Amino acid sequence: MPAPSTVCSFAKVNLGLRIGPPRPDGYHDLSTLYQTIALHDEVTVEAEVASVTSITLSSNDPRLPTDSRNTVHRMVSAALDTMGVAASVRVRLQKNLPVQGGLGAGSANAAAALLGLLRQLAPVGTLTGAQQLALAERIGSDVPLFLIGGTVYGHDRGQRVQPYPDLPAMPCVIVAPGVGSSTPQAFRAWDAHVASLSPAATQSRLEELCRLYAAAAVAGGRGVGNSQSPDDLGGPFSADRAADSLSALVGAGLNNDFESVVFEQHPFLRDSKRALTGEGSVPAEQQAILAMLSGSGSSLFGLYRTWDDAKAAQARAQPLRGLALLTETLPRAAYWRALFAQQGS
Ligand code: C5P
Repeated sequence: MPAPSTVCSFAKVNLGLRIGPPRPDGYHDLSTLYQTIALHDEVTVEAEVASVTSITLSSNDPRLPTDSRNTVHRMVSAALDTMGVAASVRVRLQKNLPVQGGLGAGSANAAAALLGLLRQLAPVGTLTGAQQLALAERIGSDVPLFLIGGTVYGHDRGQRVQPYPDLPAMPCVIVAPGVGSSTPQAFRAWDAHVASLSPAATQSRLEELCRLYAAAAVAGGRGVGNSQSPDDLGGPFSADRAADSLSALVGAGLNNDFESVVFEQHPFLRDSKRALTGEGSVPAEQQAILAMLSGSGSSLFGLYRTWDDAKAAQARAQPLRGLALLTETLPRAAYWRALFAQQGS
């Protein structure tokens, strides 16, 4: 029996997010740029082939369901079905990330559990990359991005993902305010908020952001999706141009549509955002390159040019509500290197 596989389940932030009109299937089209960050939970998987499948999930957070309401449980069950393998599986979740925080923690846990399960069951149980992505999108719109990592363009309902030219590691501060934000509720609030706009108007805002992302990708020196060589796809921006490209995106109107409705619901988030940004308190060159709500919140993030700027932002945000955590963005190669790094398994 192999040693248990411990997988780092890294979080994400959204570098901009725009929402389209509601769809007949209950989802919304959206356009976003996901970015993985170094903050993580740990998912430890032990599995062996058995005559009957059993899945046991445990966690250090007693509030988390450990049955099929948990994305990890659903992922393991669906993966075994797809492989056509019965197995005895034990998963231990070490939760550090906020639940319902907009950092994709539950989705990341599901992706990490899949990768741990595959490692445990190889070579009996295997899945192609396409099968893994198909499973991921069944479990949740934010799961597939974690099978790519780094900077990832997401569209359709967020589950259609492609590697974007990778931004290099940047200092990042996360504010986790300690209140959960329900994604379906935030989408409903957004629908009420834009009820006066025509579907065509919301659709064109979506497409505008998509064009902005594509323009920045080209400015970074690499095309997205039209590359002849897989090695070219998602290669890094040069370090200098990354901050420039991000600044250009910000200047061109990078925003998160959820902010208007989630800030209305939790007005104190505006103060945290101001603290992260540094506007009015530090010179422009020390302010955040980008600070905004992540996903449907309630976590906020700020990205900085230097660690000193990030530490100063953390110090500004710390006295306010919630936790202010110092971390960094995690480019694709670093993401994959660190995924199984906990124990060389
Ligand atoms: O895909 P996921 O299960 O994470 O989505 C949770 C809920 O969030 C959906 O049932 C839907 O209400 C809402 N949602 C949406 N549009 C999206 C993604 C999620 O309306 N693009």
